[in-house]
Amino acid sequence: MPGASNPLFATKSVDDLRSDAEGQHGLKRALGSMDLVLLGIGAIIGTGIFVLTGQAAADNAGPAVVLSFVAAGIASGFAGLCYAEMASMIPIAGSAYTYSYATMGELVAWIIGWDLILEYLVASAAVSVGWSGYAVAFVHDVFGITLPATWTRAPFVYDEVLGQFHATGAVLNIPAMLITLVITVILVRGIKESARFNAVIVMIKLAVVLMFIVFCAPYIHTANWHPFIPPEQSHGHFGFSGIMRGAARVFFAYIGFDAVSTAAQETKNPQRDLPFGILGSLAVCTVLYVAVSLVLTGVVSYTQLGVPHPIAVGVEATGQRWLATLVEIGAIAGLSSVMLVMMMGQPRIFFSMAVDGLFPPIASRVHPRFGTPWITTIITGVAVMVAGGLLPVGVLSQLTSVGTLFAFVLVSLGVLILRRQRPDLPRGFRVPGGDYLVPLCGVATSLYLMLQETTGTLVRLFGWMAIGLAVYGFYGRKHSKLRAKLAGS
Ligand code: ALA
Repeated sequence: MPGASNPLFATKSVDDLRSDAEGQHGLKRALGSMDLVLLGIGAIIGTGIFVLTGQAAADNAGPAVVLSFVAAGIASGFAGLCYAEMASMIPIAGSAYTYSYATMGELVAWIIGWDLILEYLVASAAVSVGWSGYAVAFVHDVFGITLPATWTRAPFVYDEVLGQFHATGAVLNIPAMLITLVITVILVRGIKESARFNAVIVMIKLAVVLMFIVFCAPYIHTANWHPFIPPEQSHGHFGFSGIMRGAARVFFAYIGFDAVSTAAQETKNPQRDLPFGILGSLAVCTVLYVAVSLVLTGVVSYTQLGVPHPIAVGVEATGQRWLATLVEIGAIAGLSSVMLVMMMGQPRIFFSMAVDGLFPPIASRVHPRFGTPWITTIITGVAVMVAGGLLPVGVLSQLTSVGTLFAFVLVSLGVLILRRQRPDLPRGFRVPGGDYLVPLCGVATSLYLMLQETTGTLVRLFGWMAIGLAVYGFYGRKHSKLRAKLAGS
């Protein structure tokens, strides 16, 4: 409620948010439920399925990576239900940051906003590295040119057993940096958020994934599925613990469905279409992921899948060269669209935080000609370039996954809190099973997956959050507009 006695927990009023959203946005309500499903799939299918499936199979779960996908899909489903209730209740362009400002107060909103940097910015860097892997494979297959590893790989890898970074001898991942530069320029100039363009890319991506399943399934050697769960070598490396650590890792593949909620103001019937968009895109992706991972581990031994372009390696094992090239093209186009959505979301979150006074006002400047939040877009672009140029996909994607799971925990709690505090608010969609069941399952499953990660990744997450709290203490707390308003009233 506005006016909570401790300003740290002061909340924006949901009613204000709703009426602001009604009054000011001027965006056209043009999207229907199928557009939203496509938008969701556009943001979801990316490096997770194209790269991490192979790595999780090789390092963590073996062929049982299929079960990792099921487990991660279940956790995402609970969180998806909670996002759907939030989005149908507060149907404004926003994200977990906005929701939590209205439910749990400024401090939690800040924590989520800071945490979302991991979900959007660090994820973009991870996707840029995935893009690089397929671009390198494509140049090799089509032009016969082998780009030097020195300039196409990260200079560091992380040794999980020793818990240390090692130099690889490479200098920079230039293709990853290049794609980030291109996307940043596009976003600064502003793209018309064209649902039709997105639909074309999504169709290409879906077609490639379906072709992989259909054309490669006949080449499955069931011997590759034995043992389905290779014996445990160490914690998180095969066996049950490997399946669960694999789940925490391939969870990355599901990230992005919440992007659907950012289109709330452009949706014809948000109350009905948002839950459909979020849950529909999640359901489609879960089925595809399970099928792809079954086929992939069936056509080639999981031991050979720890490469930058595992799906193409799977296709090549079937001898269908033409399909490998198509998969590479699909991955290159599809991963670019994921980056576009993520790198469009991040500056808008910085922007909202700056409008609320939690970041310096310069971050809320809009470009006079292009009408885009150009300063925050460039800051995002430079940060993604540095991270994608220097770090391996595993480190980036694991940090993204734990960060996003943490946001899911808070959003699930938010649903629970609002059910208790504001039972009166109209909800176009209510999670089934009463006030507690789904939100608590959301908290429990996300927390459980977070805890499957290595200590190194969790330390990086909490280190990042500690930096965030310091920034809030030194800056946001003093400049918050909401606090100023409360102090003045
Ligand atoms: N789900 C997105 C991907 O896998 C982030 O690339």
